[in-house]
Amino acid sequence: MRGRQGVEIYIQVNGQIQEREVIDLYRANNWSSAEKPEQLLPALRNSHTLVTARFSGVLVGIANAISDGHLVVYYPHLLVHPEYHRRGIGKKMVEAMNAIYGDFHQQMLTADGDAIAFYQAVGFVRAGKTEPMWIYAGSEH
Ligand SMILES: CC(C)(COP(=O)(O)OP(=O)(O)OC[C@H]1O[C@@H](n2cnc3c(N)ncnc32)[C@H](O)[C@@H]1OP(=O)(O)O)[C@@H](O)C(=O)NCCC(=O)NCCS
Repeated sequence: MRGRQGVEIYIQVNGQIQEREVIDLYRANNWSSAEKPEQLLPALRNSHTLVTARFSGVLVGIANAISDGHLVVYYPHLLVHPEYHRRGIGKKMVEAMNAIYGDFHQQMLTADGDAIAFYQAVGFVRAGKTEPMWIYAGSEH
């Protein structure tokens, strides 16, 4: 797909990531896990699948999946740099995940704020009458 000045946006599955670019992307979105790089980087690198989006080589989006590999997948993180929102990058990353997990019995995630409309736009629906529950160390939600 084309981004600014007609330069391609590259979506990659299980590509390399560097600590500095990941932290910059997470900080740009005010995500608390940016302050835990010693946990965040291994978490992303050890994901069942990691999807990255790059514009002229610069990391502008990231998404990860954790899964049993057969039946259930959970999507913990999906974020796009705020300067690149509404260019279809989030949707492209979901499509990359869907190519791997689209046939799975259950695809789960937690969404709030504007992300709810995004996930609805890419096919997710509210999980019946369930109540989202967690033990969470951050304070941005
Ligand atoms: C949610 C997020 C990943 C969406 O990424 P994106 O690349 O901007 O989304 P896309 O351009 O692929 O949007 C696809 C469709 O989703 C919907 N959508 C996306 N963002 C939306 C918003 N802020 N409000 C309403 N609908 C939205 C629209 O229907 C959009 O299609 P359109 O632009 O043609 O109208 C991005 O806003 C983000 O990084 N937010 C902060 C982090 C976050 O909340 N992540 C999700 C929780 S894990």
